[in-house]
Amino acid sequence: MSMPWQDRAGRFSALKAATLAALLLPGLVIAQDYARGLLGARPITEMIHASGLWAIRLLLISLAITPARQILRLPRLILLRRMIGVATFCYAALHLTLDAADKMFDLDLVFSEIIHRVYLAIGAGALLLLLALAATSTDGMVARLGGKRWQALQRSVYLIALLATVHFFLQSKIDVSEPTMMAGFLLWLMGYRALSWRGGTARATGRISLLLLSLGAALATALGEAAYFGLFTGIPARLVLAADLSLAAGPRPAWLVLAAGLAVTALAALGDARQKPLPGALRS
Ligand code: HEM
Repeated sequence: MSMPWQDRAGRFSALKAATLAALLLPGLVIAQDYARGLLGARPITEMIHASGLWAIRLLLISLAITPARQILRLPRLILLRRMIGVATFCYAALHLTLDAADKMFDLDLVFSEIIHRVYLAIGAGALLLLLALAATSTDGMVARLGGKRWQALQRSVYLIALLATVHFFLQSKIDVSEPTMMAGFLLWLMGYRALSWRGGTARATGRISLLLLSLGAALATALGEAAYFGLFTGIPARLVLAADLSLAAGPRPAWLVLAAGLAVTALAALGDARQKPLPGALRS
């Protein structure tokens, strides 16, 4: 069995070692802030929020690996996907453990809240699926399940991302900027996959496709946010869209989705300018 900092041949991989350190860092910062009493009057609540945020961020980063390796022509990034996926599960499991700690490890209370509160039930669904993916992430389990069944199970990551985003939205009180931004990134990532499934990798990684995808994801984010406010707060959609356009309240989620999408498009254009042929492993 290779260690997390080794490649498949058992050699030390600086890329994997650096990624492992980066994945551990948020957990260490959370623990250190707690130990130094920097988390305010409700430190456990702060830690529940921080661990949940890192779980969903890492989930989206794991979904970004395939587009990144294809667009940036870096097939080696695949080495990191399993590690980032397992780290996602670890932060989500820490998140649940902290929620239980907040309830003095009264497990009856923890389970009864999960059953009675929709946003917790949705989070629990995402966590159970993450557990299934983490438990089947070893080479032995891949061999035991067989490639096709293992891949079918891996596809549940899209459902996990959807459930986690809905959980994030539902637990937000007034400010839904961050979940809206996450939903926008998720739209971009799923849109990229739809393009790749329909037209192949070469078409999906093209500059025009990426530009249109980024514009579409940003527009859908703005419209989705306006619809959310209209439906759940009664704030007219046109006011939300006007706030988006004015930029007075700082960059709104749709702009951040657009900025990230344009940055990816620019990187793809730079890659094209270098005219490196797409490696065979990335062509399909
Ligand atoms: C049994 C499973 C889960 C439970 C019991 C749970 C519980 C909670 C609780 C109690 C909160 C804080 C709500 C508040 O302060 O009002 C929260 C927030 C959050 N959870 Fe979960 N959660 C679960 C699963 C997940 C999973 C699987 C993810 C992501 C992959 C996730 C991501 C988040 C995020 C992003 C937040 C908001 C953080 C913030 O606003 O700063 N949760 N969750």
